[in-house]
Amino acid sequence: MARSAIPRISLAHLPTSLEFLPRLSRELGGPRILVKRDDCTGLALGGNKTRKLDYLMAEAEAQGADTILTIGGVQSNHVRQTAAAAARSGLSCHLVLPRAVPWDDPAYEISGNVQLDHLLGAQVHLLPEGTDREAAFRRMARVLRTNGRKPYVIPSGGSNPTGAMGYVTCAEELEAQARGAGEKIDYLVHATGSGGTQAGLVAGFHRLQSKTQVLGVDITAKADEIAAKVWDIARETSDQLQPENDLLRASVQVIEGYAGDAYGLPTEQMRTAVRQAARLEGLILDPVYTGKAMAGMIDMARQGRFSADQTIVFLHTGGMPGLFAYNEYFQEEQEMF
Ligand SMILES: Cc1ncc(COP(=O)(O)O)c(C=O)c1O
Repeated sequence: MARSAIPRISLAHLPTSLEFLPRLSRELGGPRILVKRDDCTGLALGGNKTRKLDYLMAEAEAQGADTILTIGGVQSNHVRQTAAAAARSGLSCHLVLPRAVPWDDPAYEISGNVQLDHLLGAQVHLLPEGTDREAAFRRMARVLRTNGRKPYVIPSGGSNPTGAMGYVTCAEELEAQARGAGEKIDYLVHATGSGGTQAGLVAGFHRLQSKTQVLGVDITAKADEIAAKVWDIARETSDQLQPENDLLRASVQVIEGYAGDAYGLPTEQMRTAVRQAARLEGLILDPVYTGKAMAGMIDMARQGRFSADQTIVFLHTGGMPGLFAYNEYFQEEQEMF
């Protein structure tokens, strides 16, 4: 199926810009580093989920849904952007938020993304610790249907072949930008969590027969699970676009070692990377996703994974509201002068 035949609405501000990071490139002393600014997709502080929602919300509309239901951690960026998309479409929105991260900053459950979820008018269902999250999610869908609602259910992270189509589009956009700027992109590095972003990119670059390699830095501390999920979604997405295609499992490269102990728990390498990006380039990252991905990219550059004549694109997937939920962690060791 032609990608243009797939229903899509226009929530994201596109194209996002592709910018050179001269001071970070110099600091790393090797490859040219560019950033693709998907933190600037525009909807309620932006981020990667907006591209997915362009397709998911079109499907919701086509199915005649009157309610959007989704799930994510307390500080989920996906949930915040979904709440905004539902508000824009005039649909009611229910958010199931399991307490998945043992983090006790007083801001964690009231600031950042969760504050915005309330502001956007969504019904927030915060689950007690230890609740079976999938069972609670299914139960909420049942309750909505029993009450006569027509919910459109979006999986965690908006990660299914419909959502991944947003990143097929991003691969096309990036190829066109690179061609226009005379750049050849050797690697694209980004944070991979629920898998849809990486799956869409892998399927998209494959369809374009591009040589750009996608490196998804695992932020879940469950790299094997994520790699399997990316592969499943990438294959299904590719099959929808071109039934006869030879997508290879080897094109799914999930980089482990930068997630720390668990999803959402900060690492020292992440904090250093967040500070470096801010102080060298005025670029604000987040502690859960882009900070860990940047830590991975910096470390891979220092380990010599990239050569000096290569070009790397760091995909900034957003997430900045999450920074405010880790207020105390970033106050520690604050220099006095
Ligand atoms: C800021 C940010 N970056 C990256 C990701 C990972 O994207 P995906 O879930 O598609 O793997 C997420 C997902 O929640 C995110 O919020």
